[in-house]
Amino acid sequence: MPDGQNDARRNKTENDITAEVLARFSATPDPRLRRIMLSLIGHLHAFVKDVQLTEAEWFQAIEILTEAGKMCSNKRQEFILFSDTLGVSMVVDLLDHRKPEGATESTVFGPFHRLGAPEMPAGGNIADRDHTGTPALVSGRVLDLDGKPVAGAVLDVWQAQTNGLYDSQDQALDGLHMRGKFHSDAEGCYLIRTVLPVNYPIPSDGPVGRMLKATGRHPWRPAHIHFVVSAEGYEPVTTHIFDRTDEYLGSDAVFAVKDSLICDFVRHDRPTAEATRLSIEPPFLTAHFDFHLKPATEQSATVLDAQRRLAALGAAEG
Ligand code: BEZ
Ligand code: FE
Repeated sequence: MPDGQNDARRNKTENDITAEVLARFSATPDPRLRRIMLSLIGHLHAFVKDVQLTEAEWFQAIEILTEAGKMCSNKRQEFILFSDTLGVSMVVDLLDHRKPEGATESTVFGPFHRLGAPEMPAGGNIADRDHTGTPALVSGRVLDLDGKPVAGAVLDVWQAQTNGLYDSQDQALDGLHMRGKFHSDAEGCYLIRTVLPVNYPIPSDGPVGRMLKATGRHPWRPAHIHFVVSAEGYEPVTTHIFDRTDEYLGSDAVFAVKDSLICDFVRHDRPTAEATRLSIEPPFLTAHFDFHLKPATEQSATVLDAQRRLAALGAAEG
């Protein structure tokens, strides 16, 4: 029977409505889309019935989503912040990037990656305009699952400044800062000069911030450095390294901490040969972290896909 000509008994109860909506979507030709839509409708309707949503609350939700949409720009992605603070990003990451034993674990991409980070030599300084942070040298190797070096891997690195802001958030700053692309050498080694990462609050001047406040949550992320490590023939890994001493490791606003990603930043009050070679005076810190990449499979979800997605959302280069 064509739409609109069914018998008058339809839609008598809320469960009748759910059943009719499900029936309408059950003709979706693409099987994956059908599965997603049927599950979405089932859970969404169940949620509305479970909490007995009022019309005023429904309208408030529409207003929140509208405001979130209006806040989005090439420098701000409020929907990613919602996904991150609701824990959805981490669940998706876990489901879509299952790692074999020994492979470096992934974590959230976050909204602050930018395309066009400068190529840096080993030991290059990503924090050259951060004059208040304590210098830090982060080094390690990129290895495969058998422990063999991966040469020529690209390490795309980004970090918040010591003032707690990413370059794109900092009105006082022009262009890119605290970002760089490093390459592993023949032994798989990399070396990054930066400053000790700091903890910082995620942007909380919008609907996500109001949600955190209303639910008694704080907006802080533990100190970390972001990495996307990629190499020909391997699945790229999007991850962070975290400072072991941070007070927010147990309550990250976006649920992104994994034990295997926690790292020691060791303080040095005397010069070392490497620091002297790079003209770094004490005090400074060193951190060591090895990345273990798993071989690429045909259907590996790639980080490039994520970058393209962000570019499509307006995350302009530079
Ligand atoms: C970040 O670490 O850059 C980040 C991740 C998720 C939400 C906000 C910020
Ligand atoms: Fe971050």
